[in-house]
Amino acid sequence: MPSDTIQSARRVIAQHPAKRDDIGDLVTRRPLPGPQLEQLDPFLFLNHHGPQTYPANNRGLPFGPHPHRGFETVTFILGGSLAHADSAQHQSVINAGGVQWMTAGSGIVHAEISPEEFLRDGGPLEILQLWVNLPSHLKMSEPRYVGLQRESIPAIKLPGGGELNLISGEWQGNAGPIDTLTGVFMSTLRLPAGSHEQLLVAPGRQVFLYVVDGDVTVGGEPVKAHHLIEVDRDGDSLDIAANSDARLLFGHGEVIDEPVYSHGPFVMNTREEIFQAVEDYQNGKFGGLDA
Ligand code: CO
Repeated sequence: MPSDTIQSARRVIAQHPAKRDDIGDLVTRRPLPGPQLEQLDPFLFLNHHGPQTYPANNRGLPFGPHPHRGFETVTFILGGSLAHADSAQHQSVINAGGVQWMTAGSGIVHAEISPEEFLRDGGPLEILQLWVNLPSHLKMSEPRYVGLQRESIPAIKLPGGGELNLISGEWQGNAGPIDTLTGVFMSTLRLPAGSHEQLLVAPGRQVFLYVVDGDVTVGGEPVKAHHLIEVDRDGDSLDIAANSDARLLFGHGEVIDEPVYSHGPFVMNTREEIFQAVEDYQNGKFGGLDA
C-alpha cells in the first residue's frame, strides 16, 4: 500500500534508565517518571516488576485494595499470574502473556494480588504496569476493566523476523482486542537476535518504547535493557534492530497537552480536582472491595 511507504525514521532524543526501587521482596524498576522526564504525554508511569522467582509459601504481590481516578492502568503479565478484583465487580486471574486494561475513570478501588496457587507453590513472576493519562473530558468516564489471556492477543509476524503482539489499535489491517477511549496503540515486541524492523508510526503521535530485555539499536543508537527510549515526533517510522533476543513494550498515543496534577493514585488537571478525588474516595464514592 502506498500509504505504508516509509519517508523518514524517528530520531532518538534521550534514553531514560529505569531506577531500581524494590517494594519489599518485589524487584521493581521504574523508568518513568524519572529525573529527566516527568511524563511522556500521554504516558505517565511505568513499573517493571521482576523477573524473579518466588519460593513456595510466599506472600505474593503487595497491591491490596487501593483507589485510582483520572487515567488508565495497563498491566502486562510477562511471567506468573495476577488476580484482579475491583469495586465495579470485575474479577479475573490473568496468566503469562495476558494483559489487563483498566479505565479508572471517575473512580475505582482495585486489588492486584497473587492467586492462591502462586502463594502456595511460588514460581516465576514478571509484570509491567503502565499508566496512560486521559484528557479532561474523559477523566470522569465510567470505570471499565478488560482482562485478556495470551490466546486473545494476536501475534503478528513482522517482515524483519520479529513478532508483534497487538493489544490495542490497528496494525496493517489487524485490530487489537482492546478498544480504547483515546485511540492508544499498544503492543509488545519479540525481536530475535539479528532481526531488524521498520515500524510505522503516524507523525505527531508520541511513541512509548521500553526495552524489557536484550540489546537493541534504535534509529542507529545502541540501547540496553531497562531503558525508556524517547524519540522525536516528526518521522513516520521507528527503526529497531535486535543485537540479542529482545522484548520491548511499544505503543503510541495522541499528546493530550493539558496540565497534569497528580497525587499518588489520582491524576487530574488541577489541585482542586485532587482534593475532590480524595474527598470522594474517603466518602466511599468509589465503592469498596470485599475482603
Ligand atoms: Co492500582
